[in-house]
Amino acid sequence: SAAEKAGFDWFMRKEIFEQPKAVADTLLGRFNSKGELVLDEMRGISPEDLRRINKIVIVACGTAYYAGMVAKYAIEHWTRVPCEVEVASEFRYRDPIIDPQTLCVTISQSGETADTLMAIRHARIQGAKIIAICNTNGATIPRESDAVIYTHAGPEIGVASTKGFLTQLAACYLLGLYLAQVRGMKYADEIRVITDELAHTPQMIQQMLDGADEIYQLAHDLASAEDFIFLGRHVGYPVALEGALKLKEIAYQHAEGFAAGELKHGPIAIIEPGMPVFVVVPPAGRDQLRDKVLSNIKEVKARGAHTIVLAENGDDGIEADADLIIRLPHTSTLLQPLVATVPLQLLACELATELGHDVDQPRNLAKSVTVE
Ligand code: G6P
Repeated sequence: SAAEKAGFDWFMRKEIFEQPKAVADTLLGRFNSKGELVLDEMRGISPEDLRRINKIVIVACGTAYYAGMVAKYAIEHWTRVPCEVEVASEFRYRDPIIDPQTLCVTISQSGETADTLMAIRHARIQGAKIIAICNTNGATIPRESDAVIYTHAGPEIGVASTKGFLTQLAACYLLGLYLAQVRGMKYADEIRVITDELAHTPQMIQQMLDGADEIYQLAHDLASAEDFIFLGRHVGYPVALEGALKLKEIAYQHAEGFAAGELKHGPIAIIEPGMPVFVVVPPAGRDQLRDKVLSNIKEVKARGAHTIVLAENGDDGIEADADLIIRLPHTSTLLQPLVATVPLQLLACELATELGHDVDQPRNLAKSVTVE
């Protein structure tokens, strides 16, 4: 009913707007007064266990898999433990290398996704310890895991995940920081900065929501486009993939996300004049990475693309090749997905609404897929 949607037309839109609170709730109570992480839910996995592991594998599906991609960048950088991320449906069938020194991290909003459940059962049989990141108390996946970090997003009704994703990102950062803390921090200064910054992310997400009208206008302008391209590098790459997935899921539009550096190895051939191309620009301080992305923008612009550039406040020098700039608050590179994803969610929701689709119940999709 309208009341349950708190005045929003769709649960999905309501859930997008709940993200500042959902992320704040996920971060709440995780730090002690000394600023150290305290994850009570780690119960079944001791700090000794975490010091013994020599490899991390992350398994998940759909949007949760993209959260896992971001987690890999963060965890490897902060802990120097090799970390793989794989879609759960591919994982067990390729005979992955797992042993008792492997930590398996699984991410699932529902905690009931069959592909993911089968993957962790396989990892467990090989002796791996399992940590679940999950939004549903007592679901099958957390019950079958040694430890769990709950995302406190509240129930997610819209089939296309939004607050589920942002809270998964938050939980992944917490896990990465916790592993760094337990194993001895190699980047103590940076980790302190990240910890402080995480506390400010709910208000940064709110700033993105405050700009919703501009994104809605963009959605109306793009309503007749048929193909959409999303580009990013580093953690901007999973953001690009998630932006494309949202458009496919609810707007039924052909959309593809690519690692911006891969453009020249094929995808650039499909760019046509007028084609909307979204590009996520890394924050200041990552100048090499940023310069590479700027040349990618030039390359698509030269072929007539309609460029929509997501870049942080104060990043000038992008105006020449950007048809539209969506401004992001300044973040550390690793945290940028928490803000950069928001306009892409708003875009998909508004575009699907404009096209007359049922945003909360998209065709052919289920909220939780309990068959392999
Ligand atoms: C389904 C949903 C997706 C979701 C995926 C994983 O396919 O339609 O939105 O990302 O499952 O769901 P999970 O509950 O495991 O996070």
